[in-house]
Amino acid sequence: MRIYSGIQPTGRKHLGNHLGAIRHYVTGQEEAEAAGAEAIFCVVDLHATTVAYDPRELRDRTYDTVALLLAAGLDPDRCILYRQGDVPEVPELTWLLTAVTAHGDLNRMHQFKEKSAQQRELVSAGLFLYPVLMAADVLAFRADRVPVGDDQRQHIELMRDIALRFNARFGGGDGTPGSGREVLRVPEGVYPTVAARVMDLQAPERKMSTSSGSIEGTLYLLDDAKTITKKLKRAVTDSDNEIRIGPDKPGVTNLVELLAATTDRTPEQVVEDLADARGYGDLKVATAEAVVAMLGPIQERYAELRHDEDAIERALAVGAAKARAIAGPVLAEVREAMGVGPRA
Ligand code: TYM
Repeated sequence: MRIYSGIQPTGRKHLGNHLGAIRHYVTGQEEAEAAGAEAIFCVVDLHATTVAYDPRELRDRTYDTVALLLAAGLDPDRCILYRQGDVPEVPELTWLLTAVTAHGDLNRMHQFKEKSAQQRELVSAGLFLYPVLMAADVLAFRADRVPVGDDQRQHIELMRDIALRFNARFGGGDGTPGSGREVLRVPEGVYPTVAARVMDLQAPERKMSTSSGSIEGTLYLLDDAKTITKKLKRAVTDSDNEIRIGPDKPGVTNLVELLAATTDRTPEQVVEDLADARGYGDLKVATAEAVVAMLGPIQERYAELRHDEDAIERALAVGAAKARAIAGPVLAEVREAMGVGPRA
């Protein structure tokens, strides 16, 4: 039961990243350990080069993200934590997987459509191939489970198709999906039951996001308590003052989900517990208190860890060595199955 996930080093990480993904990495690390398996996490610096970026900043943003993951509870002694650019097997596998990836499928990716529309100067070929690199990340490790937020569903489905198509084409099958030897494991996406898609506080019909959201609508994991409280108090709701979840109440539903996720309750329980509340004010205050309590200890550990970049590099070097020891043999099998390079 091998667990794998990746996270971009771009921008400042937000509450959606934490509730949709990072905190499930930490439970994944525990589950994998209990099962005697690996939990593998990657900071995907190569993915960050697919849109306009500043090369002087990328390494710093990678350190930020690694420090945040460590602060949230990942432990390099209990999991494999590495930087994508340190493992050259993955970009090589990306190229090999393009042989079984349909151009039409890549063209249908929501993220490609959204992000290509945002680019001012250049829509890079890398942005188009982004999902193949993501597939290579997971498939290079023969991972079984991939904890991600709801926005990654389409990428995960494509990754599964790529693995199935690879096995059918190069695993000695007859070309139909499901036939052939499992050269590549077909992974499964694992999505949170609550807060799988945290919405922007100012525009609750849009997901919370570093690339397209507003600063006021995005709760950054390093925002101080005052800022968190202010942003939540100003969150867009509606005028009927009724605490209830449903598609007609996106702002209130988002707050209820945030409170549920941060206090380990279901959204229904939260609504019931707030039956005597005096309107949305109580919901917002309770949510702010819960978010501040959850993030406080993470922020303290982050402050301790972030300044020691040598220690971060050392942890990443250990992670890269462990990652390459797994990905190398998988890549060798893929090359052999595809007839690339000399006979094994
Ligand atoms: P990234 O860096 O955009 O986001 C990291 C994780 O956070 C989740 N997430 C959210 N969850 C709930 N609500 C939100 N508003 C929200 N916004 C983001 C994402 O679903 C993700 O799990 N393509 C990936 C990175 C990646 C990857 C991989 C993931 C590269 N290779 C291999 C898994 C496996 C991404 O851009 O994540």
